[in-house]
Amino acid sequence: MPEAKSDAFVFFGATGDLAYKQIFPALQAMMRRGHLDMPLIGIGRSAWTVDQFIARARDSIEKHGVVDEDAFQKLASRLQYISGDIADADTYRQLRSTLGKAQHPLHYLAIPPDMFEAVVGHLSTSGCAENARVIIEKPFGRDLASAQALNRVLEQSFPANAIFRIDHYLGKEAIQNLLYFRFANAFLTPIWNRDHIANIQITMAESFGVQGRGSFYDDVGAIRDVVQNHMLQVVSLLATDPPLDKHPDAMRDAKLQLFDAMQPIAPDDVVRGQFDGYLREPGVAPNSSIETFVALRLRIENARWAGVPFYIRAGKQLPVTATEVMVKLKSPVNAIFDNATSAQENYFRFQLSPDVLISLGARCKTPGEEMAGEMVELVAHRHSADEMMPYERLLGDAILGDAALFARYDSIEAAWRTVTPILGNTVPLQTYDPQSWGPNAATQMLAADGGWHDPGAMESEDGHAG
Ligand code: BG6
Repeated sequence: MPEAKSDAFVFFGATGDLAYKQIFPALQAMMRRGHLDMPLIGIGRSAWTVDQFIARARDSIEKHGVVDEDAFQKLASRLQYISGDIADADTYRQLRSTLGKAQHPLHYLAIPPDMFEAVVGHLSTSGCAENARVIIEKPFGRDLASAQALNRVLEQSFPANAIFRIDHYLGKEAIQNLLYFRFANAFLTPIWNRDHIANIQITMAESFGVQGRGSFYDDVGAIRDVVQNHMLQVVSLLATDPPLDKHPDAMRDAKLQLFDAMQPIAPDDVVRGQFDGYLREPGVAPNSSIETFVALRLRIENARWAGVPFYIRAGKQLPVTATEVMVKLKSPVNAIFDNATSAQENYFRFQLSPDVLISLGARCKTPGEEMAGEMVELVAHRHSADEMMPYERLLGDAILGDAALFARYDSIEAAWRTVTPILGNTVPLQTYDPQSWGPNAATQMLAADGGWHDPGAMESEDGHAG
């Protein structure tokens, strides 16, 4: 299909959680920038009128942003609603007629993954897939085999360049800055490798639980929900070799090589936890063995990274909500002062959320007679929040047919291969207290490497690194 701009935006799951939290606010923001001059068709099960649908949109934006009356009125005037069962062919007949003269609709499947195949099949047989694009939410499949099966189904109905697999992490300003910071700064080039980097830690901590998404989450768990996609994508940006140029495919080729160098994660390198109280969440099976926390060691076997552990920790009901990357440098080879312990090593810290920060941890001499020092943190970049919401950026790109910030299928397959050995119950599950940093075994995992850096623990009272 030519790189034509989409001329209708169809979103399945319009009455669902994702639409409520992310899509309506993103649509208003796109409208404000003048990027959304097309029909916006929501499809949902609820028997709503279009006015009820518009009221839902307003409520969503009030709760997750600020209503801009002018942009909202324009948005409301374009919203249409089809009440129907997405497993029923009749819903697609209605969609076909609602699409009217639109030539290049964009279908966004903001629905549970087990519905993807059925919806794609109906889009195809009803003629709605013709010259269209489709956006699929993560997780893309439940494992390698189901990802391959899903991909076959998608490619029967849509050409490869019309399939957009969304990972909203890739649309975040702070994540893009990881890549920019790495390749725009010559001083990093000689040190960004196994000779100088001791380990890399990524923590994605959330202080809340499953927030009413129990039935979705209980089918997925932390490894499928955020590690196979968000966390491994962050690793790929931190660790990839430089792409040949800035063309999106050059970037995606470089990332694929990195994904291919990731070793399948060994169960011995993983701690799986479930917070105490999870089993009482609505929608969760009473005997569920799904993890709400995972900590793991990932190995990348290539010339740049062999021997450097990448640690990933992600969980719900942790002490803070923050996502952070900590790149720890090795100690000076000939340490003549006090650089003996790992707490005194230099580091780069990238706080990805809630606020965005890039900083460098260094040692400076403490005033006085002794040649003794303290850690200071040099802040290179700080801003409060993303100016553009990831969904706004990504939906806008998909409308234009720009796939640069979408995960390519080959790297999704490679990511599944990486996590395959640790899916299911291979790794025993341990219970942890809400608001703790997970099971004790997770803390122990890094004992030999200087311990985890806990986001939020950085600023001491004097503003110095803790
Ligand atoms: C989603 C996961 O993909 O990412 C959620 O399904 C998680 O469980 C969310 O809370 C975190 O995203 P963000 O952008 O709020 O950090």
